[in-house]
Amino acid sequence: MAESDNGQLPRHVGIIMDGNGRWARARGLHRIAGHRQGAKTVDKVVTACRRRGIRVLTLYAFSSQNWCRPSPEVQALMELLGEYIRQERRKIMDNNIRLTAIGHLDRLPPSTHQSLTELIEITKENTGMTLCLALSYGGREEILAATGALCAELAAGQLRPEAIDEKAFTARTWSGSLGPVDLIIRTSGEQRLSNFLLWSCAYAELHFTDRMWPEFDESDLDKALADFASRQRRYGEVTEHD
Ligand code: IPE
Ligand code: IPE
Ligand code: MG
Repeated sequence: MAESDNGQLPRHVGIIMDGNGRWARARGLHRIAGHRQGAKTVDKVVTACRRRGIRVLTLYAFSSQNWCRPSPEVQALMELLGEYIRQERRKIMDNNIRLTAIGHLDRLPPSTHQSLTELIEITKENTGMTLCLALSYGGREEILAATGALCAELAAGQLRPEAIDEKAFTARTWSGSLGPVDLIIRTSGEQRLSNFLLWSCAYAELHFTDRMWPEFDESDLDKALADFASRQRRYGEVTEHD
């Protein structure tokens, strides 16, 4: 993407990485082979976003609802996540990427949780791009957690009801410090949010592509970015006056 396009580059991109299972089944492979191939796409897309100057990339890797899948699949996904964290450590550091994560992380297997926490800690001063993994994540769960935090502060007398506004609420969400998501990309042809970034997506532009996540590549990313650049964001206002 040319330098001159940077003015219309989304600051925060969120990706719903969908279609691993269908990609695999269409090739006569087990769904888990699709997840393995999907992990390779993650690697490529992270590098591509970093190169294009995206400031924040949030990847929906595992939803709160995905815990209900058959246990061998859940286990395989957790193993792949652990592998990703261990294998990408060097590259994440070399690319000056700050890793962070949102979701009920305490539900992750202890060893995965620990490697994740370590990588978050060692990358915390990096400034090239923030990579946020949404893990055991749900948008409703995030809103509930923020509401719980506000209620606890109210009950303890640390907060007055009048002080609850959008800013105060956002500050208590898991993703609050990432800033609002500007562009959400979903692969695999499905056109829904599936509980992703529900609070922060209020004015996000949505881009849907039929490509399955394991086959999503740099040119698909560029199409999504070009689509974003062509949109006019109005936030409820009018751009022309009589
Ligand atoms: C996305 O691919 C990966 C996760 C949700 C963890 P899917 O596993 O949902 O693949 P499809 O939608 O069944 O093809
Ligand atoms: C959304 O995909 C969750 C992730 C990509 C991690 P799903 O495949 O779980 O969503 P639905 O079931 O199609 O809504
Ligand atoms: Mg799916």
